Amino acid sequence: MNSYVRLINKEHLLPVSYVPKDMTEAIFPFCAPKGSSKKLMRKEAADWAALLFAQARWDDIYLFGASAYRSYSRQQQLYEERMALLNHPEDNPYIAPPGASEHQSGLALDVTCAGVGYDLTEEFAYTPEGKWLARNAALFGFILRYPLRKTEITGYAWEPWHIRYVTRSLALYLTLTGLTLEEFYQMEAG
Ligand code: DAL
Ligand code: ZN
Repeated sequence: MNSYVRLINKEHLLPVSYVPKDMTEAIFPFCAPKGSSKKLMRKEAADWAALLFAQARWDDIYLFGASAYRSYSRQQQLYEERMALLNHPEDNPYIAPPGASEHQSGLALDVTCAGVGYDLTEEFAYTPEGKWLARNAALFGFILRYPLRKTEITGYAWEPWHIRYVTRSLALYLTLTGLTLEEFYQMEAG
């Protein structure tokens, strides 16, 4: 349950009651006030994220956290709000159904920067910050979880802002092979 490498998607759900026990508040720059649950991450992921943000600073790259932990009920609320605006569920490639979000695991982090107005947008990928993140995330144990042209496999649109902690060894392996987490587990099973 607490595994850092756990696959979480629309087919592999987290239980309603799952709340990580080892969460801590992010110490790096964040678009949320102190004490906000959005700033919570599991300790190991938070520590590696802090190192990633510090290395970025040394490279003159100014990253900001936008959203980390979301409870099951918060995800349900976001999902229902989004679905109420749409006619078909397949028109929603961005917001995971409750239980299907990595944000509930305390291992996911949405990252942004001033250049895109602190928004979560594909434009982030073309900023120096987005490019730096794509190049360096794996060194700190994170993967860009929803890559371009992998929507059929991940079930989500390209999200160059969403990183997921999977440990350094798995992040490096996935980066070197170009596999998504779904493809990695399919390969392991096959
Ligand atoms: N945007 C991602 C898929 C989520 O809602 O968890
Ligand atoms: Zn996200």
